Amino acid sequence: MTSSGKIQVGVVFGGRSGEHQVSLISAQSIIKALDPEKYQVIPIGVTKHGSWLVGADPKLMLSGPDEKNRLQMHTSKAVVGDPTHKGMVLLNSPDTNERVKLDIVFPVIHGTYGEDGTLQGLLELADIPYVGCGVLASSVGMDKTATKKILRDAGLPIGNFLEVLRKDWKSNQEETISLIEENFTYPCFIKPVNSGSSVGVSKARDRNQLIEAMNLAGKYDRKILIEEYIDGREIEVSVLGNDDPIASMPGEITPCNEFYDYNAKYIDNKSELSIPAKMSDEQIEKTKELAVKAFRAIDGAGMARVDFFLERKTGRLLINELNTIPGFTNISMYPKLWEASGISYPELVNRLIDLALERHAEKQESLKSVI
Ligand SMILES: Nc1ncnc2c1ncn2[C@@H]1O[C@H](COP(=O)(O)OP(=O)(O)O)[C@@H](O)[C@H]1O
Ligand SMILES: [Mg+2]
Repeated sequence: MTSSGKIQVGVVFGGRSGEHQVSLISAQSIIKALDPEKYQVIPIGVTKHGSWLVGADPKLMLSGPDEKNRLQMHTSKAVVGDPTHKGMVLLNSPDTNERVKLDIVFPVIHGTYGEDGTLQGLLELADIPYVGCGVLASSVGMDKTATKKILRDAGLPIGNFLEVLRKDWKSNQEETISLIEENFTYPCFIKPVNSGSSVGVSKARDRNQLIEAMNLAGKYDRKILIEEYIDGREIEVSVLGNDDPIASMPGEITPCNEFYDYNAKYIDNKSELSIPAKMSDEQIEKTKELAVKAFRAIDGAGMARVDFFLERKTGRLLINELNTIPGFTNISMYPKLWEASGISYPELVNRLIDLALERHAEKQESLKSVI
């Protein structure tokens, strides 16, 4: 806490993933919503190369001239994984004691090095409370195969899938094609196991497209996921809480393209959000129940958006994925669904901080060693 009794909240945004730009907008909305009477916000911008910058207007921090210039304009800081620091230290300074204390961190970096457990691991080492899922749930949520295996083990509905190593695809293409064709019919979906924003995701309609799709997915990850095609409506639910999570009303996305690809998400701007989704009461209850179960299955904390397919022909609900740091701009699905369920954006941010402090305090209750 500051001398004025305010809680120092580090909002970490930007980052090295393809979702850098979205993260800037998410962070701006969050910063604006944090009550200045209660919180002292410390914006922490992470550049595309991974440098941590502090000390200026967050909007300017990561935009403007090239990265080298920006590094000179702002103070470069780092969180050290040492619990005695409880904050950030100034880099390249003879005075290693210069610190910025952080009572809590709000990670707003989508994708790799933000949503995947790595940042959470650093914050665990530093013993700083943070918003959202812990290391395990974050890394499980990022790895689409790990998510599916855990959901399957919990008896939750998912589509058929198969994981292939890029190495095996490269060294043994023919055998891999046979394996895929034995298990799936066309069309099927091909994606990098660790990905986001639909980067590297393709719908393969025949063998030629399959080869192209496998090569593309293999550019982004060493593991490639093959999934049965599901002809379904895309339904999303927001989950909030720690051990007793609650689910929002479901919403629906109607992609403007053949599927919800990168262009449909960020470029074409014509995909439609329907909040709440038009579903029967029974379907709504079922979706909410499955979302909470999925959140629990991965040991979620704080928040996650659970994405579903509602199969058109059968009415079956299948869980597609969990996003542990979902888009958080004021027009993003995660906060919008809460708004529709009676929790305003500022209240949501408040609750997430309380949940983070609660989870941190709860962890302190466990013995750390046998002596
Ligand atoms: N098995 C599938 N069947 C039909 N459409 C799919 C399937 N998997 C993905 N999609 C489409 O591709 C989009 C992106 O895939 P997704 O697994 O959600 O990856 P990302 O993590 O990049 O959002 C989905 O929103 C959906 O439109
Ligand atoms: Mg998705």
